Amino acid sequence: MNQKYQSLFEPFTFSNGIRLKNRIVLAPMTHFSSNADGTVSDDELIYYARRSKGPGMVITACIYVSANGKGFKGEFAGDSDDSRAM
Ligand SMILES: Cc1cc2nc3c(=O)[nH]c(=O)nc-3n(C[C@H](O)[C@H](O)[C@H](O)COP(=O)(O)O)c2cc1C
Repeated sequence: MNQKYQSLFEPFTFSNGIRLKNRIVLAPMTHFSSNADGTVSDDELIYYARRSKGPGMVITACIYVSANGKGFKGEFAGDSDDSRAM
């Protein structure tokens, strides 16, 4: 590996104390895989499990934060305390 990439594989600690094992971040990518009621589906869990072993941080797809804010079919919900994104 080219040495200029070495720092990507070093841990990073945010000021709040949360520590990432490396500095590689999975960028958010839209999917259409949530259940019709906005809950997380098995397909989503498989999707994120496959992609979360390497990066220090995974940013999920967008959620809707109010009940009338759903933008598209298959978007997942974050509009209530009962919503559990992951
Ligand atoms: C909620 C959200 C969903 C996104 N979905 C996609 C997507 O489906 N496909 C895509 O190419 N980029 C998507 N993006 C943008 C990428 O995450 C990323 O920012 C973009 O590809 C630019 O990457 P770069 O800064 O490394 O060039 C999304 C961004 C956000 C905030």
